[in-house]
Formats: sequence, C-alpha cells, structure tokens
Amino acid sequence: MISKYAYGDPFHTEAAAEEMEVREGMPEFGEMEIKEGFTFSYRMAAEDIVYGLGEANRGLNKRNYCYISNCTDEPNHTEEKRSLYAAHNFIIISGRENFGLFFDYPSKLVFDIGYSEEELLKVSGDYADLYLYVITGENAYDIVRQFRKMIGRSYIPPKFAFGFGQSRWGYKTKEDYRSVAKGYRKNHIPMDMIYMDIDYMQDFKDFTLHEENLKDFPEFVREMKEQGIRLIPIIDAGVKVEQGYSVYDEGVENGYFCKREDGSDFIAAVWPGDTHFPDVLNAEARKWFGDHYRILIDQGIEGFWNDMNEPAIFYSREGMEELKAMIRKLAEEDPDTLPIGELQRQVLEIANHPEDYRRFYHNIDGKMVRHDRVHNLYGYNMTRAAAEAFTRIDPDKRFLMFSRSSYIGMHRYGGIWTGDNKSWWSHILLNLKMMPSLNMCGFLYTGADLGGFGDDATRDLVLRWMALGVFTPLMRNHSAEGTRRQEAYQFGDTEDFRGIVETRYRLLPYLYSEYMKAALNDDMYFRPLSFVYPDDTFARGVEDQMMVGDEIMIAPVYTQNAKGRYVYLPEEMLFVKFRKDGEYSEEYLPKGHHYVEIAIDEVPLFIRKGRCIPLVKAAQCMEELDTEHMEIIGFENARYTLYEDDGIHKDYDDPANYRVLIWE
Ligand code: NOJ
Repeated sequence: MISKYAYGDPFHTEAAAEEMEVREGMPEFGEMEIKEGFTFSYRMAAEDIVYGLGEANRGLNKRNYCYISNCTDEPNHTEEKRSLYAAHNFIIISGRENFGLFFDYPSKLVFDIGYSEEELLKVSGDYADLYLYVITGENAYDIVRQFRKMIGRSYIPPKFAFGFGQSRWGYKTKEDYRSVAKGYRKNHIPMDMIYMDIDYMQDFKDFTLHEENLKDFPEFVREMKEQGIRLIPIIDAGVKVEQGYSVYDEGVENGYFCKREDGSDFIAAVWPGDTHFPDVLNAEARKWFGDHYRILIDQGIEGFWNDMNEPAIFYSREGMEELKAMIRKLAEEDPDTLPIGELQRQVLEIANHPEDYRRFYHNIDGKMVRHDRVHNLYGYNMTRAAAEAFTRIDPDKRFLMFSRSSYIGMHRYGGIWTGDNKSWWSHILLNLKMMPSLNMCGFLYTGADLGGFGDDATRDLVLRWMALGVFTPLMRNHSAEGTRRQEAYQFGDTEDFRGIVETRYRLLPYLYSEYMKAALNDDMYFRPLSFVYPDDTFARGVEDQMMVGDEIMIAPVYTQNAKGRYVYLPEEMLFVKFRKDGEYSEEYLPKGHHYVEIAIDEVPLFIRKGRCIPLVKAAQCMEELDTEHMEIIGFENARYTLYEDDGIHKDYDDPANYRVLIWE
C-alpha cells in the first residue's frame, strides 16, 4: 500500500506517473519534524537492512554512512564521497518492519543512515516543502515492485543499444572513428556503436558538427551503418555564448535560458567557455531545446548521451571575479608569502560551487524559481526534453538516450551511465553493487564506463570489467583523454577480448528478453540475492553476486591476479563458464559455499535450479544475430519464456512477442 503525504508547498516534479490522493498528518513510521526545514527520523533495529538510493556510493546496504542527494559533477568516486551525479531519494527499510520511503523533494537532501548515531535513520532537507510517499509491503522486493508501478514504466531503448559500444574522449576525425571500427572488425570483436564525445562538435557547440573533420556527415553515418555501427553523439547542457550561433541566438531572443535575479542570462563556463543553460524546467524552452536533436537525427543519428547536466559549472563570471579579488587581496596583504594551500583550495572550489547554484533562476509557469530549490531536476528535464522530442519526431521509433545526471521520473525517458569512474579494481565492485539499487529506483538501462574512465587501465582490469559488462544493459568501454588507450584491440592479443564480447552477443536473446520483461512488468533486471531468497540468512548479506533476470546469478571477479573467487549458492545451480573458443564448461554445484576457478578470459554465470536459458551464435553486430537457431542450456526439462520483438518499434505489449522454449 502507498500513502502520499504533502508538507508545505511541494514542487511537482512529476516523478510519479500517477496522481494520488494526498493524506493528511504524519507518516505511519518514524517521526516527521517540520520547522524551517524538515527532518524525518526512524529508529532502526539491528537486523534492518536499508536498500535504495540508486546511483550512490558504497554498498547495497546503505547503513552506517551519510549520503547527500545533490547532483554533482564528481569525477572522484572515492569512498568518502557523499554525492554523485544523481538524486534517487527512495529507500527501503527491511527487517523488523518493512517499508519504503520516497522523498519527492528536488533540492539537496541528507540521508544520515546510522552515520551520526548507529540506530538512527535521519533524512533532512532545508525546506519543509515535499511529498513523502510511504510504501508498506511484505518485504523489500514487494515494496520495490509497488514503487516501480507508481513511478511508471522504465525507458526501453532500441535493441541495438544492447550491443557493445566503444567510446573515448579524444576521437576527433573520421579517421579516428574509422580506425576504431577497423580495430574491432579486423579482429572480429563484435560492436554496435561508437560514441562521439565533445570533439565532434564545432567549438563544443551543441547540435553542430566539426566543419573540417566531419564534412558530409550523413554520408559518414551511412558508411558506419553499412558496417553495422551506429554513431552516438554526446549533447552537453551548456549552450555556447556566441552571436550568430543559432541555438544561442534563438535562446536569447525567446528568453529560453536560465536567468540571474536581474533578468540577464546567467553565464557559466563549461567546455566551450561561456555558456547559458537552457531552462529545461520551462515547458516551452524544454520543447525548443529538445527539437534541436532533430538536426542530428535528420543526418541519420539514432541515439545520444546527455552530459554535464547536473549542471556542471567550471566557474561562473561572479565566482571568477570573487576568486581574482581574493588573490589580489592576498598578494597585497603579503606579496612575499602566498598561502599556496589556501589558494589551491579556493581554485579547486570554484567549480560546481554551491553559491553559483543560487545565482540563477528558472521560469516555471511564470514564476521565477531559484535553481538550488530544484537543482536535482535539471538532468532529468534535459533528458525529458530529448525524449519528448523523439516522440514528436518519430512516435513509434525507439531512440537510444542516456544521461549522466538524473532524478526519479527520468527513468521513463532514458537510462544513465554512472559517470567518471577510474581504472580501479574497487570500481568494478562499486559498479556491481550500484546496479540493483538503480533498478529499485526505476533505472534499468544502465552501465559504467568499462575499463574505467580516469587513470590508466591494465589489460587484466579491462578484461575482468568487461566480463561484468557482459550483463549490464549498457555495455560501453569509455575512457578519458590522456589516459592509456583501452579499446579491446589495444593490448596485443585480442582473442580474450573477442571471447568476452562474443559471450555478450551469445547471451543477447536472454539478456534482452529479461530486460524487456523487467521493463514491461515494472520489475528488476538486477536483483540482490536477498530479494530472491528472502529466507536465506546468508543470502541477505551477499553484495558481490547478483541475480540477472529470473534464471541466472553472476559472481564477477573484481580482484587483481585472482584466479577465481568464493561464491555462495543459495540453491543448487549449474555453473557455466564461457571460453574464448566459443565453447563452455558446465558443472552442477550444490547449495552452499564454493571456491570456483575463473580464468582471465572466461565469463562465468550460474543457472538456477530448474531453469534454462537460450544461447545463439555470436555475430559482429546485433542485426547479424541469428535468433532462429537457438541452443538451450540449463536444467533438463526446464522451460524459458522468451520475449522477442523487432527492437525498433514500440509495440511491446503484443502477446505474439512471447514464446516458450523447452530444454529437451
Ligand atoms: C564528462 C563525462 O562524464 C565524460 O564521460 C566525458 O568524456 C567528458 N565529460 C567529456 O565530454
């Protein structure tokens, strides 16, 4: 059951898909204190697990740390960080009592989950304007299902988006893209997408193409498509300030950019230098911005990624003036001994400074709303702008769309990637733990930068990470400019990489089918073991193994030089290892703890007792997959209901999309 409470004058975020009656009074669990701001508190029992928060740091069980929902361009996902790019304000308390809480509140929100006081859960915000949803159910999984139904169907990408994609910040010319295509095709490593990072634009201007490097772009898009490769360009939130650039001119003329208090257009420096932020919280401006995606769609583009939409600010005009004044003052005070430490801190803090988010406003239904009051909705609405435009442009076609920043509600419009991780082993584990939490909050099309974005990757790390990526709906290798190259053909012998990516394609009918069933039934694609085996006390604590769909469990290797790992099987399972020669080994393992060997070139998975999954032959790209000839592996006499469609259109609910496969 779901109860909705309103306090103060809440902002309509449209996170929930359905309107619900609002109840008066205080929630049935915990205590709500309303003053200038609000504080919700609840005493947790020792056995309680707290799930949720979607894209957040640390573990699956969120207890014993403090998280802050405040969408932030945070390139260092180190353990002490409290905010990442998203605000997914849904948690589930599961143990003595079972209930979920969704704080529909678009400003900064603090989740102190036993950090200040071990047993105390405290959620607080500076303003007492919010909707609070309280969801009761039998267990955590049941609560998630109810919540997911309430927030509406998750985004469904086109089928090609389940193929493998290669990305790197730094590809500039056609030759750069061609050499990536060649690197994959020559080595027979499957691939469906190459991502275009900011250098494809002219001077980092949204919806433009580099005039020298990308002449005759539609022709180039066709050339790539003939090889089965789609180009996926990035779109940034900030629009370059430049007279004569039509997006800028139109935005200024119509008042579609975010404004300062005095009505002038707010200026923030991002990649192109000075930019304005389109006011995507304003319906008219959102439509205007979204319609620009057509410029690239008309040239053959079928997918995009939205970036820097927290929105990220390198510095504002005001911030820069303040910094300069501070440096001048220091120099005047004591010209001989500049306090280097203090200077460094001030320079670093100029980016994404909280004060800057108080310097601009949105025009929402004629009312000026200061940005910090609705900060967490920006990326959501930028992505919504794009998705709504796609529906206007081609109502029955699916487009690939994922965003860096997000809020619950955005899950209906696009997926997300988890931002600037590093080539660290600990980030493989972070990737794994985040996936089910994201699913709880509605985000199904998700994945991390495989191989790590920042820092130099090693061959073994990329292989192990890609072996996890086989199972994430978004499977993309991406890295930062200046780091070691990490495309699958950059480490000498390519066979190991080929084997891993081929395994993805072999499993695609299953992975796609499970994704679609999860999306269509408001269910999870990645589930913690505790959701599937709620009575198994050991399974409740497992965080480094996950269920993928209904039939399999995964247990990736995330430790350097490990030859295998320990796994816990909550029931008998068939342990399958895919090898690079296209063969696989099978071993029935009884319920319990096991040490399993997993070589660097193998992809392991575990099929649940009484279940089976389909397999196909690998192909170079999605369109070449032969799904007519399937092999089935798993337990004898098991049945599997396969969901299949053309992957292009939106007629998901056609019963003809399901067929039953039987292992005989
Ligand atoms: C930040 C994004 O997180 C990253 O993926 C991208 O490569 C850079 N911006 C450059 O566009």
